[in-house]
Amino acid sequence: MSADHLAEIGLRYEVDGEIATVTLDRPDKRNAQTFATWSALRSIGDALPEQVRVVVVKGEGPSFSAGIDLRMFSDEGVPGQGSFGSASSQDDDSLKQAVDKAQQGFLWLRRPDIVSVAAVQGHAIGAGFQLALACDLRIVADDVKFCMKEPALGLVPDLTGTKPLVELVGLAKAIDICLTARVVEADEAYRIGLAEQVVAAGDLAGAVAEKAAQLLSTDRDAAAATKRLLQGASGRTLDEQRAAEGAEQAQRLKALFGGRS
Ligand code: CAA
Repeated sequence: MSADHLAEIGLRYEVDGEIATVTLDRPDKRNAQTFATWSALRSIGDALPEQVRVVVVKGEGPSFSAGIDLRMFSDEGVPGQGSFGSASSQDDDSLKQAVDKAQQGFLWLRRPDIVSVAAVQGHAIGAGFQLALACDLRIVADDVKFCMKEPALGLVPDLTGTKPLVELVGLAKAIDICLTARVVEADEAYRIGLAEQVVAAGDLAGAVAEKAAQLLSTDRDAAAATKRLLQGASGRTLDEQRAAEGAEQAQRLKALFGGRS
């Protein structure tokens, strides 16, 4: 996908060694997201160079992302992209397929071979909040404002955000945040586990670069195996998890010492 094509969509994508950076780059529209944004995100994930270990997702300008481009709920839609505005004329399967396609733009950020870091400043609303939730870690500026606005608009959060939200903050807090559509600011985000780190807005890029360097300081294959273990832990019993640890460690030991006689 060419830089020009991405620029038309409002995205930038750069790879520098082991770090890829995806920037939502439509600050004049507060980085509102369209079908094209999600399809381009999926293509970026599909074509991610093998050497990449850290993916930074950030937004240009005062907001991380104001969520879905509200034109997508109008009959006219976004030029060249259609809309959900004509939903009543579409069958359930086509609507589910459209959502499924959009979700593919978010899912790859959990891959075990990478660690994704969202750098979030200002508003992260709806799809913007969910994009931050799709990342493994969230480093936020002290002006951050998370808001799951979907229920206020008659919708559900459907861009893969509900599971990580519940896992991060617990069911009661997730219900509170979603069903009130209230704003969660930096102090609370840190306290309830939505953000790993809060920094002054001017320090966000530096804090993310520092985290990326820390993440790159561990062994690549061990990091991927450990992420697989951690991701699977909540779905396994202790006995199953212990066995999974053994299986991963056997691979690591073979890789590290297998050549010795
Ligand atoms: N879609 C399209 N355009 C948007 C937008 C959006 N979501 N959010 C902001 N913009 C545009 C504004 O229309 C405005 O455009 P013009 O300059 O052409 O008038 C420009 O961006 C700047 O917006 P504001 O002047 O409002 O900027 P602000 O900094 O004062 O406020 C904001 C920022 C709080 C994010 C505010 O713009 C806002 O509330 N936006 C709407 C947020 C929203 O409701 N998003 C939908 C969430 S639900 C979702 O995402 C659904 C889903 O996943 C299924």
